[in-house]
Amino acid sequence: MTDAEGTSTARPSAPTNLAFGVDVGGSGIKGGVVDLDTGELVGERFKVLTPQPSTPDAVAGGVVEVVEHFDWTGPVGLTLPGVITDATMRTAANIDKGWIGTDVYELFGKALGGRQVSVLNDADAAGMAEDRFGAGADVDGVVMLLTLGTGIGSAILINGTLVPNTELGHMVIDGKEAEHMASSKVKEDKDWSYHKWAGKLSTVLETYEALFWPKLFIVGGGISRKADKWVPMLSNSTPVVAATLRNTAGIVGAAMAVDAGLRT
Ligand code: BGC
Repeated sequence: MTDAEGTSTARPSAPTNLAFGVDVGGSGIKGGVVDLDTGELVGERFKVLTPQPSTPDAVAGGVVEVVEHFDWTGPVGLTLPGVITDATMRTAANIDKGWIGTDVYELFGKALGGRQVSVLNDADAAGMAEDRFGAGADVDGVVMLLTLGTGIGSAILINGTLVPNTELGHMVIDGKEAEHMASSKVKEDKDWSYHKWAGKLSTVLETYEALFWPKLFIVGGGISRKADKWVPMLSNSTPVVAATLRNTAGIVGAAMAVDAGLRT
């Protein structure tokens, strides 16, 4: 519809391609409704604190609270900070060890009244979202996303297709796991300067690029908000850019996963 001057007066139509994502982290369980055409949240995200201890049943309770907050009755995509294969959580480096061996599809399926769920690794979800809608959107070939937080999460994508559960934060480099060497928690715990920490992270990135030759590293996690302070200090060769979806990437990736019926 146009007015007398030929300007469109049609109101933007409400998004119709919606899905729901929940990002389970060590400190918070965050969820929201995602517009899959734009990768943006429709309305605010909602967060509850991750119960401590973060056992499967306690976390499932938190997930239900988040989903019910939105009165969402459809399928739900979820992330967890560990390896998920054949519906089962295999590792739990930074979450309650009770997750190891848990059938996460049964757990969340039951807690959410038998609806369809997809459950995937947190960094994998963030990688899918950044690759489609964020810092990797215009990049062809291999893109690697790293989340720098309590641990280091990794995602590898090639032209939008994910290689799940890469777990490069646990690669042993100079006798130490990468995440014990260069996560943002290590920087905080040791009170390192950006300069000192960037040196450690450069060693990790140089190791990854020598093995995988990505076109781009995307760095996420809280510390990526200050990327302009430390990215220039890195000495590796592959370009490094900050994630652009910030704290919604996990939610968006989880929603993409359930929409695609992804099972890792
Ligand atoms: C876990 C990964 C996870 C990462 C970030 C690591 O310790 O092993 O599965 O993606 O932390 O949460």
